[in-house]
Amino acid sequence: MARTPWAPGAAALAAAAQVVEAVAEQGRSLDAALEEFGQGSERSAVRAIATGTVRWYLRLTPALARLLARPRDLATPVRALLACAAHQVEYSRNAPEVTVHAAVDAVRVLRQPRAAGLVNAVLRRFVRERVSIFAALDAELAVRTAHPGWLVDLLGRQWPDARASILAGDNGHPPLTLRVDLTRTSVAGYRRRLEAAGIGSEEIQWLDSGITLDRPCPVSELPGFSDGEVSVQDAGAQWAAALLAVRPGQRVLDACAAPGGKTGHLLEAAVGAVDLLAVDVSAERLALVEDNLQRLGRTARLAIADLTQPDALAGEAPFDRILVDAPCSSTGVIRRHPDIKLLRRASDIGAFADTQIRILRGAAARLAPGGRLVYGTCSVLAAENEAVVRAVLNEAPHLRTVVPEVSPAPGALPRDPGVQLLPGAEAGTDGFYYACLENTTTGT
Ligand SMILES: C[S@@+](CC[C@H](N)C(=O)[O-])C[C@H]1O[C@@H](n2cnc3c(N)ncnc32)[C@H](O)[C@@H]1O
Repeated sequence: MARTPWAPGAAALAAAAQVVEAVAEQGRSLDAALEEFGQGSERSAVRAIATGTVRWYLRLTPALARLLARPRDLATPVRALLACAAHQVEYSRNAPEVTVHAAVDAVRVLRQPRAAGLVNAVLRRFVRERVSIFAALDAELAVRTAHPGWLVDLLGRQWPDARASILAGDNGHPPLTLRVDLTRTSVAGYRRRLEAAGIGSEEIQWLDSGITLDRPCPVSELPGFSDGEVSVQDAGAQWAAALLAVRPGQRVLDACAAPGGKTGHLLEAAVGAVDLLAVDVSAERLALVEDNLQRLGRTARLAIADLTQPDALAGEAPFDRILVDAPCSSTGVIRRHPDIKLLRRASDIGAFADTQIRILRGAAARLAPGGRLVYGTCSVLAAENEAVVRAVLNEAPHLRTVVPEVSPAPGALPRDPGVQLLPGAEAGTDGFYYACLENTTTGT
């Protein structure tokens, strides 16, 4: 049998270090970095190590800094490798000495052989001293929960009672939630097929189309996935279609549509033909909407447009239903995208809010008399949510907020205006905010 030149686990650790370096040092997204560096035979190990390391990076790196004279002087791949190895020691079931051995070889895989001695020494001390190091560092909430200080402070001001559960929810492993196309099958019928395939699941009581799997699995194992019978979509995201309540024959605008998760749901939930225009500012991302609709066997009109521009969609007649699923800080989906912890800055929030107000203003101007608009984000921050809706309501007296008659999500919190789902709350969803607006002008 051919001998691999490196200790078991060294190649995966080195690839994970490249992913973490790309995120933490170069500001790339975790998905993009995994796409580039996480494709080899050890793909799932690389994904698990890199995702876990990014999730706990803001706890691991202060601990490592205590063991290094000048942490910023280390080559960036070595710094990332130390974080990955420390993650494995602290959060995996691997024997620590096996991880240290693999890390020393991973230094060579990364072509940083001169750092082998240092990596060996630092990790051996980390294994010996980590309990006392973390005992001191964990006194600080931001370090204990591996979140940036600005976000912990902001959550403390906005959600004093819920902050601890939001932070814990952000560090949890997200469930795999499915949306069943109810025009093609029922929740009970699809769960029977899952069971026959050996996949355990639970129905989501407050949604008519939602199923949570007992354990995540690759979509290729889901019966009927490639034919569009089911889609992967968080339960909080599935709420948008219930709130918008599209009816057959209506003109519908999905204003920030890509990659099209909600576009497909709006078409399924309408239970009849609708004229849906899916818009996104990014041509590249709009192509993903097309792919998604193709899998679902659905059609919509697609258009590239910048909704912050007053003349966007000038040639279009008003719409009966509009969904504005606005670009945002993504602070509600940190459990799925832990890189948000490293990539977002406090200063980003004002810029998001500015764009959101302009998009919502532009979309609301296209709402037909008697029509309904749902504004949503996957943010937990008031500046991107109720403050945005209030700003647009203040300048448009013909708009008013409404509370649609849908089953409430457990633990959803009423805001003024709108409703907030928080990560870590009873419903088990990602964090989402929604507000429902109606145009009170009567048609001529
Ligand atoms: C949160 S994502 C939408 C997710 C989508 N609704 C779904 O369920 O799959 C926000 C989208 O808004 C788009 N976007 C950002 N700025 C925009 C603008 N000015 N006009 C239109 N779309 C915009 C982004 O390209 C991004 O695809």
